[in-house]
Amino acid sequence: MQSKLFDLSGQTALVTGAACGLGLAFTEILSEHGARVAMLDIDAAALQRSAKRLRDQGRAVDEHVVDVGDRTRLRGVTDAVAKQGRLDIVFANAGISAGPGYKTAVGQIEAVQDEAWQRVLDINLTSVFVTLQAAAAPMKRQRSGRIIVVSSIAGIKSEAPVGYAYAATKAAINNLVRQAAMELAPFNIMVNAIAPGPFRTNIAGGRINQPEVEAMFAAMVPLGRIGEPDEIKGLALLLASPAASFLTGTVIPIDGGSTAA
Ligand SMILES: NC(=O)c1ccc[n+]([C@@H]2O[C@H](COP(=O)([O-])OP(=O)(O)OC[C@H]3O[C@@H](n4cnc5c(N)ncnc54)[C@H](O)[C@@H]3O)[C@@H](O)[C@H]2O)c1
Repeated sequence: MQSKLFDLSGQTALVTGAACGLGLAFTEILSEHGARVAMLDIDAAALQRSAKRLRDQGRAVDEHVVDVGDRTRLRGVTDAVAKQGRLDIVFANAGISAGPGYKTAVGQIEAVQDEAWQRVLDINLTSVFVTLQAAAAPMKRQRSGRIIVVSSIAGIKSEAPVGYAYAATKAAINNLVRQAAMELAPFNIMVNAIAPGPFRTNIAGGRINQPEVEAMFAAMVPLGRIGEPDEIKGLALLLASPAASFLTGTVIPIDGGSTAA
């Protein structure tokens, strides 16, 4: 008999920032294991392309053009997805770079601009809270759910290549996860964070795909290379699946050993 440990059939999931990068990897693995996935993204064209490709493979995905910085729209879409039936799994994944870190002139403390700081707080912190808030209501009624927040190792330790607002927001959401995990534990809702090291995605305009930038990040990783989006799928599936029924309130690095160094 096949194990049901990683079976998501009949479950409904929602992923923010699902059109590309890690969010697309989460969507792929959840839908491969039987979940219906609501894909939310600000980039309508990329969202449509990715959703169509997955539907052509027989996956159950729906697309919703959403700027997670728009609280009303984010809440409205999350409520609408939940009202279609259930809301079992939510990935608060959408996030943006705050530009390069303090080793460049534009990343130093005195160069940080108010408007850029605020936008990163809105997307990387407030939108994560709003996603959590919108997910918690239907999950409390169901008395079950999984919320997975996508943080970064930059929220655990200092990371020279990232901007101040990025480091601050990722640290903030790690504690948001612990706090929410306590409130939601009696409702059988698990709240955890994934903290990736450098992965090959389009973040910061795909800067990591430039050979010299990739080499700089790879040199910081004990495994000697950056991660590929497919390599985040196992951990994502674990946290979303019945296999993780006693796992909550954690921040799990997936970083080729970087935080241990
Ligand atoms: N790639 C890495 O090295 C890395 C490392 C640590 C953490 N992360 C985190 O992983 C998450 C995903 O990033 P990624 O690397 O896949 O980046 P990415 O840029 O490849 O993908 C992010 C997706 O989010 C969408 N998005 C951006 N702003 C949005 C908004 N306001 N509303 C809705 N959607 C929006 C983008 O259109 C894109 O599809 C982020 O939270 C990021 O901070 C990434």
